[in-house]
Amino acid sequence: MTLKERDKKHLWHPLKQHQLNPESLAIVKAKGCVLTDEDGNEYIDAISSWYTCMYGHCNEFITERVATQMQQLDHVMFSDFTHEPAVKLSEELIKILPENQNRIYFNDNGSTAVESAIKMALQFYFNKGEKRSTFIAFENGFHGDTFGAMSVSGLSVYNGPFEDFLIEVKRIPTPNGNNLNEILSQLERYTSEFDVAGFIYEPLIQGAAGMTIHDADGLNSILKFCKSHDILNIADEVMTGFGKTGKYFASDYIGTKPDIICLSKALTAGLLPMAITSCTEAIYEGFLSDDIGNGFFHCHTYSANPVACAAAIAGIELLTSSDIQMSIKQISESHQKFENKIKDHAKVRATRHLGVIFALDLDTKMKRYGDLRDKLLKFFMDRGVFLRPLGNTIYIQVPYIISASELQKVYDTIEACLGIV
Ligand SMILES: Cc1ncc(COP(=O)(O)O)c(C=O)c1O
Repeated sequence: MTLKERDKKHLWHPLKQHQLNPESLAIVKAKGCVLTDEDGNEYIDAISSWYTCMYGHCNEFITERVATQMQQLDHVMFSDFTHEPAVKLSEELIKILPENQNRIYFNDNGSTAVESAIKMALQFYFNKGEKRSTFIAFENGFHGDTFGAMSVSGLSVYNGPFEDFLIEVKRIPTPNGNNLNEILSQLERYTSEFDVAGFIYEPLIQGAAGMTIHDADGLNSILKFCKSHDILNIADEVMTGFGKTGKYFASDYIGTKPDIICLSKALTAGLLPMAITSCTEAIYEGFLSDDIGNGFFHCHTYSANPVACAAAIAGIELLTSSDIQMSIKQISESHQKFENKIKDHAKVRATRHLGVIFALDLDTKMKRYGDLRDKLLKFFMDRGVFLRPLGNTIYIQVPYIISASELQKVYDTIEACLGIV
């Protein structure tokens, strides 16, 4: 029996209606930018396996560090214990995070990084004796699938069964250069009518919404407004973090720094699941008390797993190297050339790019999960390129180590697909 056939007996995959689509492609190997399936077919991983393996799959610099760490200390609980990989990672992260960040809290994945951020904001005010229970978030944002994260996500097409159980969230549009006054008056209304604890946002680029880019100055004004109303700003950098936008963090483009930042995905270079919620010293101090109950009682068993920390430290070493910084710059320049070439095509409604992220909207109506999407996925895979359209948006988010010829193949395949839509 093939892996594909064995898979169907016991497995339940995420984001899948098994009755309509029972097949899953069996991948047996990943190296650099290339995934290999059980029949030996190769695919360029043009979305870095959901924005994770930015230094390439099975990068030996990282796998060797991880292997060494595994021989030294595999895991120990992080409540009451500490260890070198966690301490070192906190030191390395603080060097590259926005300058107001000073505390590192460990989680397991992007959703729980957001969940912790939401709980931190609620408890920060609870500890002060203030009951604040509302959040502000952007329309069409995506922040994950646990209850708090689902609540603040505006992309809720599949949240129907849970909507009665979500926390209170008021939504504002993303700033587009023309709507700031309207957004600010909406914020005035929300802050006068509700007790708002936090504003959560994907800085500059909303990933799941289709890699849509918003106005940095407008975002800065929103953050300033929130700061002046003691609303905690929570940047969800789960997708944008670690160089994707051309800077270490998207928040580096914006003058007003967040109180809390959520990190995951590329944090561990695509090797192991881990996430971090960082915050300012002022947030941390809000939990210091003689009363044990004012502490942050949120914990995951594998918090600060030493092996995952080792992968993250190695990843940061690569990210900050001149080679990787140069590659990010070169990919961004290539995207610009591709954008210039393709933007006036009759089948292209819009294009945009920032750092290694490029997106193109097809000039056609297309369901998020539907026939045209399936046709496009097959078209890409048949040509050896793994791209995953988001609605009518085709986006690229390639590993930083991609070669010029691999990147060209991704561009050529996208250009060719315009002939079938
Ligand atoms: C911006 C953002 N936040 C949170 C998440 C959730 O992360 P995870 O899937 O690791 O729970 C995602 C996942 O795509 C994301 O893009």
